[in-house]
Amino acid sequence: MTRLVKVADVKELPQGSMKTYDVEGRYILLANVEGVFYAMDALCSHEEWDLSEGVLEGKKVVCAGHAAVWDLETGEAEFDEELKPLETYKTIVKDGFVHVELSD
Ligand code: FES
Repeated sequence: MTRLVKVADVKELPQGSMKTYDVEGRYILLANVEGVFYAMDALCSHEEWDLSEGVLEGKKVVCAGHAAVWDLETGEAEFDEELKPLETYKTIVKDGFVHVELSD
């Protein structure tokens, strides 16, 4: 089953920005790419750096740790070793807030 969880006021996330939120104990990165919100697990599966400390380049996030490049759409990384993909989540904007769809 899936449910929508309210995460952030859209005003907190201007275009080109990203931020990590604690969503019921999961760290989820929200990124605003040209007005579209993407959500993905926030901790790099290499050595768990918080991806919000990295750089947002289009729909990709470059990890501040060792420069793995994460794709916000697929949750997959380009890196010199294989990294476990990160979970991505559907987002919906409702009443001025970004909601993330979580499954139980
Ligand atoms: S922690 Fe992200 S690339 Fe190493």
